[in-house]
Amino acid sequence: MFQKGLKDVVAVHTKIASVDGDKGELRYRGVLVGDLIPSHSFEEVAYFIWQGELPGENELRNLQGKMIEGRELPDHIGAIIDALPADMSLMDAMRTVISAYAHVDFKDRTIEEQAIILTAALPVVISRHYRNMKGLSIVKANPNLSHTANFLWMLTGVLANEVHVEALETYLKLTMEHGLNASTFAARVTISTESDLTAAITSALGTMKGPLHGGAPSGVIDLLEAIGLTENIRPVVEEKVKSGERIMGFGHRIYKTEDPRSILLRDKCVSMSGKDSWLDLATEAEKEIIALLETYKPGRKLYTNVEYYAAAIMRSIEMPPELFTPTFSAARIVGWTAHAMEQLNDNTIFRPQSVYVGELVE
Ligand SMILES: CC(C)(COP(=O)(O)OP(=O)(O)OC[C@H]1O[C@@H](n2cnc3c(N)ncnc32)[C@H](O)[C@@H]1OP(=O)(O)O)[C@@H](O)C(=O)NCCC(=O)NCCS
Repeated sequence: MFQKGLKDVVAVHTKIASVDGDKGELRYRGVLVGDLIPSHSFEEVAYFIWQGELPGENELRNLQGKMIEGRELPDHIGAIIDALPADMSLMDAMRTVISAYAHVDFKDRTIEEQAIILTAALPVVISRHYRNMKGLSIVKANPNLSHTANFLWMLTGVLANEVHVEALETYLKLTMEHGLNASTFAARVTISTESDLTAAITSALGTMKGPLHGGAPSGVIDLLEAIGLTENIRPVVEEKVKSGERIMGFGHRIYKTEDPRSILLRDKCVSMSGKDSWLDLATEAEKEIIALLETYKPGRKLYTNVEYYAAAIMRSIEMPPELFTPTFSAARIVGWTAHAMEQLNDNTIFRPQSVYVGELVE
């Protein structure tokens, strides 16, 4: 059987997450994200995805300690980041730098520890290269801050307010894992050769970089910028739909009802309502755009996808668009590492077949 792009082919049995596009359900380890995410931190949700259970007090303290340690980059990693050209994109820099973790000391650690360190380090790598790109001085990690708060601190050099930390953390927790997407598959294929975790994450980062996967929330920013005021929603959207343009942030290949992640992100936006005119515009525009899409594209089941509210939140916390895909990767690394470990637990090397369709030369 040949399926271009392996579409609809089941390649893996997993206990990490499930996505039901018709019901609009995303579950981590069997639990609906809506039941898990609001009451648990990034660190707790990551532990849950890795281990399949929530951490007790000691486990959580241990994890937090290891993650704080992981923020301290080894000397050679810092030196590599500082040697990169300032015009190297963040995704290229992240792939290069994570690859350099493959040294003896690191490989001596257990794979669980490696997963924690790489997860803790990725935002630090992003922040350091980002500040180098902008000619800004490097901000040292702050061990008193949570994973998410420290990311914003190291990016900006300013202590972020709680509302911004919470908004970003909600996004990170909701995008940690989403089944066998292209980058997760790449991680599993790489580790299936009994390569190592740094190689698997390097593959995943290289795969995430492509515009067909890493997302383009900046398209949503452009849309909301073009709208600007609520009275412009209808004319702007009508003009786009009539000229055959797609409305960014709407529609999803799998979810044919509301994307559960966008529901939770919307709740976060609504709870921040009145504090940010961008979020207010986004929530108001959503209802009207869905109604317009139903008028112009009846029966296509076009609802907001995760990119829509992710873009609104990123914009409200003043995260520049060039940081969107790197930030998405800083969340998804939890899923990548969990899948790599699961693959190794019951490994068979991935080796599908190809059919030669060229000419035979006699
Ligand atoms: C995400 C996406 C690629 C999923 O596509 P899909 O499920 O394969 O659906 P199709 O591309 O087959 O489109 C089905 C119909 O809905 C329409 N449609 C889909 N998304 C649309 C959108 N965002 N705006 C307007 N029309 C849309 C298509 O034009 C098509 O109409 P037709 O039947 O008249 O030809 C698509 O919805 C899209 O391009 N969305 C905008 C980009 C975006 O937000 N991407 C982030 C994804 S997380």
